[in-house]
Amino acid sequence: MDNFAFVIHPLNPKQDVARKYPLLARVLPTALIHFFSRFWPPVYLSHITGVRSEATGEEIEGWLLACPFTARQMVRLPPQTVYKKIVRTGHLAQRLGARILGLGAFTSVVGDGGMTIARRLNIPVTTGHSLTVAVVIETLMEAARCRDIRPELATMAVVGATGSIGSACAELLAPMVAELVLIGRRESRLAQVRTQAEAAGARSVRTSTQVEDIREAHLVLSATSAARPIIQPQHLKHGAIVCDVALPPDVSRRVAQEREDILLIEGGEVNVPGEVDFGFDFGLPPGKAYACMAEAMVLALEGQYESYSLGRQIRAEQVREIARLARKHGFRLPDKSAVSSQRLAVSSRRQLSTRLPADRRKKYVPC
Ligand SMILES: NC(=O)c1ccc[n+]([C@@H]2O[C@H](COP(=O)([O-])OP(=O)(O)OC[C@H]3O[C@@H](n4cnc5c(N)ncnc54)[C@H](OP(=O)(O)O)[C@@H]3O)[C@@H](O)[C@H]2O)c1
Repeated sequence: MDNFAFVIHPLNPKQDVARKYPLLARVLPTALIHFFSRFWPPVYLSHITGVRSEATGEEIEGWLLACPFTARQMVRLPPQTVYKKIVRTGHLAQRLGARILGLGAFTSVVGDGGMTIARRLNIPVTTGHSLTVAVVIETLMEAARCRDIRPELATMAVVGATGSIGSACAELLAPMVAELVLIGRRESRLAQVRTQAEAAGARSVRTSTQVEDIREAHLVLSATSAARPIIQPQHLKHGAIVCDVALPPDVSRRVAQEREDILLIEGGEVNVPGEVDFGFDFGLPPGKAYACMAEAMVLALEGQYESYSLGRQIRAEQVREIARLARKHGFRLPDKSAVSSQRLAVSSRRQLSTRLPADRRKKYVPC
């Protein structure tokens, strides 16, 4: 059977550790979870079944594995220490018989974007960034249509525009919008992304190192590796659509609490074809996966066992090709009402104690 493995890691230490070790999460303070996770070995989480291609009818299987480092640790520890544990997780995937390994969240961000990890394993590795970019752009365009925002007249801000996902999104969005505002930390790198966007057909491009400069944007896409919220309620234009791709999120939970006018979408989620059973609650509703996870599934369904997305540079053709394959096998954006209700879904996911009942979420249908 064609197959894949996917690596995740704790984003919110208390909440995510509780999904696997409820007792430990109850007794250990967050600081100790951070500390012990350094010494914890890779964890087998579950066997994934029921992913079935709409094109061929083929079913594949997969394995969900955890690399027990938090995002904060992956940023702070030396890359070699982090690589070592991700590679050990990859060895576990190899022992299970996985034919491709997908890297989730910060396991794909650390160091050189998966290149070193791929060199140290005997199976192909993919970050999933190509499909993430495709899905995020489609989600934003669909949300704009729902809210009667015409992209060709709108200002679009990309936060983390110098990153792997951010720069690819900037290039692909460039010809679709009236103005592009690129936000990053380094002027020199921003200038390169600006040149790239102009070559792709951007009409007007501004660059800035201040996140406050997203204030004029009708559409905001955020994909930084800050590992903490950097977008606050006061940064956003009235009625803006914000797509937060970052894991952990870039957008403060205060935005969902204080700004009823903002449509906040957790970017990069897709519906998986078939009757998928992940065997583990990693925080998304049943049947949904992160696009980066879906990329490994698409490649397995296609029998295309290659390191598809690796490193910091994602090419536009790669994005278009994986989007075509994903559509062919039946991966879809969450339906319109789900996209429109995500503002509530996001806030409920991030604050489980305030989870809203499903019937209340369904009332949000702006399209
Ligand atoms: N939803 C999904 O399916 C999915 C899939 C994959 C990844 N992700 C998430 O997407 C995010 C981006 O991933 P990536 O691989 O594109 O990362 P990346 O290549 O490392 O780029 C990160 C970007 O964030 C900027 N940045 C880092 N720290 C910052 C801070 N403190 N304040 C402001 N900007 C900061 C970086 O600026 P410099 O260039 O100056 O360093 C860079 O522009 C990560 O959070 C990752 O977990 C989500």
